[in-house]
Amino acid sequence: MSAPPTILVFDSGLGGLTVLREIVGARPDAHYVYVADDAFFPYGHHSEEEIVARVVPLVGELIARHAPALVVIACNTASTLVMSYLRSAYSVPFVGTVPAIKPACASSRTKRVSVLGTKGTVKREYTRRLIDDFAQGCEVTLVGSAELASLAESALSGNDVSDQDIVAELAPCFVGNGDDRTDTVVLACTHYPLLLDRLTRLAPWPVDWIDPAPAIARRVSDLLGSPGRESDTAGAEIIFTSRRPHTLSRTLMPFFGGRVLA
Ligand code: DGL
Repeated sequence: MSAPPTILVFDSGLGGLTVLREIVGARPDAHYVYVADDAFFPYGHHSEEEIVARVVPLVGELIARHAPALVVIACNTASTLVMSYLRSAYSVPFVGTVPAIKPACASSRTKRVSVLGTKGTVKREYTRRLIDDFAQGCEVTLVGSAELASLAESALSGNDVSDQDIVAELAPCFVGNGDDRTDTVVLACTHYPLLLDRLTRLAPWPVDWIDPAPAIARRVSDLLGSPGRESDTAGAEIIFTSRRPHTLSRTLMPFFGGRVLA
């Protein structure tokens, strides 16, 4: 029996787990290595040059160490910048995570869509181009959040995060009124689905929240080809680049489909 393919999932922190959990659901046969570049978190606070200089060599080292069949960059702040550099430097297939503007604009009924991402993601040329190409007549509001990724990270680590702090980051997404108000919000940072219950509860009115993770999982599965019949039983690996001791293994296991974390 051949060894299961390794999928390496990379993010600045714990947000990429929202992408990983969909991939694990689609491909239980694979072996998973999750890398949180927490030594450099949050990416949203770094310049474009700093992110390219950090991510491209680091991903190269990870490929050399783990020999993945496929790498997922589960971070919008990085993917909107580094995918072409990675693809020209390494021959492994890559899947990125970019703001789901096309499906959001296609499904909005009021034609008012907000894109909630890090300050870096909403500033990117790549994001502007997605809007030019796929807004389909929608008015798109870009909302760059300075703190929401850190708040999500903190909440998942078991700390209290106040409603007020979340509302302050979320409020600018809600524009217009009556039939002309926002009806769709793109979750353009992989950390935000970690707070989805609270975002839903704290929103001033109901909207559709667009999370690209299921589409990414389908893409990964297509690229990997037919699944093996067995689930991987070897456990999964989680790597924090800070090498800080962490106590979250139990909390994080559900994202890995219950696999034991090494
Ligand atoms: N999870 C990352 C994203 O999808 C961003 C968080 C950060 O600022 O590092 O954009």
